Amino acid sequence: MSTALPVSHEYTGVALEDRNRVLARVERRLEDFLAQERRSWAALNPDSTELIDCVVRMVGSGGKRLRPAFCIAGYLAGGGDPDTQDIVDVAAALELLHTFALLHDDVMDDSELRRGTPTAHMIHAQAHERRGWRGEARRYGESVAVLAGDLALVYAERLLAGCPPRVRRIWGELSTELMVGQFLDVRAAAQFVPDPELSSWIALFKSGRYTVYRPLAMGAQLAGADELLAPFETYGLAVGEAFQLRDDLLDAFGSSEITGKPARLDFKQHKMTLLMSIALRREPEVRELVGDSLADTEPDVLHDLLLRTGMRAQVETIILERLATAGEAVRDAVPPVWSAGLYRMAEQAVHRDT
Ligand code: IPE
Ligand code: IPE
Ligand code: MG
Ligand code: MG
Ligand code: MG
Repeated sequence: MSTALPVSHEYTGVALEDRNRVLARVERRLEDFLAQERRSWAALNPDSTELIDCVVRMVGSGGKRLRPAFCIAGYLAGGGDPDTQDIVDVAAALELLHTFALLHDDVMDDSELRRGTPTAHMIHAQAHERRGWRGEARRYGESVAVLAGDLALVYAERLLAGCPPRVRRIWGELSTELMVGQFLDVRAAAQFVPDPELSSWIALFKSGRYTVYRPLAMGAQLAGADELLAPFETYGLAVGEAFQLRDDLLDAFGSSEITGKPARLDFKQHKMTLLMSIALRREPEVRELVGDSLADTEPDVLHDLLLRTGMRAQVETIILERLATAGEAVRDAVPPVWSAGLYRMAEQAVHRDT
């Protein structure tokens, strides 16, 4: 296995500063677009702003902005003009697609916390109760969150209105992969048969591809840099998978105060993550402890067992292997400032605590 790409921080600085200037314009675009939308609906029907505000709140609650960042990086590494509006709109659309994915994901995973604040379905279920409304509060909250997610996806589509067909084609693939991946994630949780190969596949489809590879490819296509699609695929799939493996490790071993998400929710939701499928396949002690219900397993005991049996270390090793693959893939494919910049971005995506 090759070692990590040596990175000059002077180099990464130049590339990532250029990227950050475009990212700042993406933030303004999102704010202006949503503010305009909110004003129009407030004039038509003031109650409707409760729905728009779910999207506004999620977009405004921060997040790492990885998808816009990778898209802009792919564009600039491919020689794209940083001053065009097209790259800003495509990158903003990716963040809105992510907003949609998170709103729906939190309903599916029955999660109470996102980015350190209560999730949309919780907020609206509580509002339903507080107001003494009729019907089931939980169902009401989930309906609002599902609709807000749909709305975020429609907004993403609206931002893509002027984007070239070759970029839109990738968008079509990306959105389909995300939904199929999420379906297989909930299906594998329900079926609960450990299969590390399937878990890796799900990690890529529900998250890795739409987070790294596809945004990079959209950026490269927008810049007209077709020659970058192959190296970006190798880099993007490696970083994307490692990104989701880190997410799984943070769920199992991280702290909710830092991640802003509930700790050990994947256990509670009997998710068949790569960590769990490797552990269940290879470790009789884990198999015995979990039996046929991960949700009923004492999370602290499982947590300690996964550490003691070296299961966490195995996933960390896979993450390092993917990082090395990614560094190799872009070493000579893009200008040196960008091979260094992309390597730095890969490190940040896979070695993080939030
Ligand atoms: C969380 O994505 C959902 C997954 C795809 C794992 P991020 O870790 O990028 O979340 P934010 O946007 O930074 O909050
Ligand atoms: C979700 O994966 C991927 C999405 C499409 C949002 P997770 O369910 O593991 O993401 P988190 O941990 O809730 O952010
Ligand atoms: Mg989730
Ligand atoms: Mg999920
Ligand atoms: Mg997760």
